Amino acid sequence: MSQLFQPLSFSRGPTMKNRFMLAPLTNTQSHEDGVLSDEEFTWLTMRAEGGFGLTMTCAAHVQAVGQGFPGQLGVFSDKHIEGLSHLAATIKAHSSVAICQLHHAGMRSPSELIVTEPVSPSGDEKTGARALSLVEIEQLVADFVAAAVRSQEAGFDGIEIHGAHSYILCQFLSSENNQRDDLYGGSLENRSRIFFEILDGIREQCRDDFMVGVRLSPERFGLVLSEVQTVAQQLMSTGQIDFLDMSLWDVFKEPNEEAMQGRTLMSYFTELERGEVRLGVAGKIRTPEEAEKALAAGADWIMLGRAAILHHDFPNRYLEDPIFKPIENPVARSHLVDEGLSDKFITYMQSWEGFVAKE
Ligand SMILES: Cc1cc2nc3c(=O)[nH]c(=O)nc-3n(C[C@H](O)[C@H](O)[C@H](O)COP(=O)(O)O)c2cc1C
Repeated sequence: MSQLFQPLSFSRGPTMKNRFMLAPLTNTQSHEDGVLSDEEFTWLTMRAEGGFGLTMTCAAHVQAVGQGFPGQLGVFSDKHIEGLSHLAATIKAHSSVAICQLHHAGMRSPSELIVTEPVSPSGDEKTGARALSLVEIEQLVADFVAAAVRSQEAGFDGIEIHGAHSYILCQFLSSENNQRDDLYGGSLENRSRIFFEILDGIREQCRDDFMVGVRLSPERFGLVLSEVQTVAQQLMSTGQIDFLDMSLWDVFKEPNEEAMQGRTLMSYFTELERGEVRLGVAGKIRTPEEAEKALAAGADWIMLGRAAILHHDFPNRYLEDPIFKPIENPVARSHLVDEGLSDKFITYMQSWEGFVAKE
């Protein structure tokens, strides 16, 4: 049988029944105050039912001021716990590991949405973001930790810290965004400090078997591949995390940085010393063959984003049919309705070039 259907254990938390994770996918279906809606519940639990070994929520914001999208799921207040509890319980009832992704958009929070100016490690003219004070950084760390505690209370098996895609933690990492000259700016050690402070807090305040992952992306937004590789290695070496999620946008691509070309971007992470930490990758895995190839290239697990939007039961279908061929984009709205997407989510997917057919 394919390696994709071999179980995967972690240093903490439950075992995944297979190697398929549902990627965190913003779907704009939550209520205005970040409370989970029935539409978002349906979309996610259908994926758990469809065979994903781990089902991750979309990016859920840990502070109101960190909201990045309308209709974003929130985890910044106790009012979110009831909806999240129902979600976590149902995901787990389908024998899928339940993970909540913790997020703060930083300077990428639209000011009209948060009705104040966005915050970031440093001020930014283009977005109108203002720099965080040291006290506010302390609060940001505390709020990531509080969101992890809230996720635990809601019954999730663990959380993933969203450190990718130029959101606030990535803004700290990027010397382009981060111009601070205090403990949080300058050297790579300082720019990555906040990750380790959040992890320390989570490990102190959450139960011993609470699973923690970190998501990083290694390119664009002023990131330097060798620096992201160093941080990835440190994250794995401290033993504070259970899985590292590398968001590569294309798992088979070569790096953008010319000096690093000649091998895949992914290989810079599979070559690291992972210890007990499980490494996975996301980016343009569309078919079972591509999933097999990514696993064979050294990942412990793979993540499906758009392929999981197209088929809620991608893992189960592949299990039942070794020659399963996913549908090709663009797809009709009716296909997405059948796959459990509400009108709001389908409209959002229209902003992803070539995904939904024009009618
Ligand atoms: C509609 C959409 C929403 C996304 N939302 C998130 C998100 O909330 N958090 C995150 O870390 N990545 C997000 N991503 C990135 C995906 O998790 C994934 O890494 C990316 O889509 C590449 O995988 P794929 O080619 O299988 O879709 C999003 C991607 C898409 C297409």
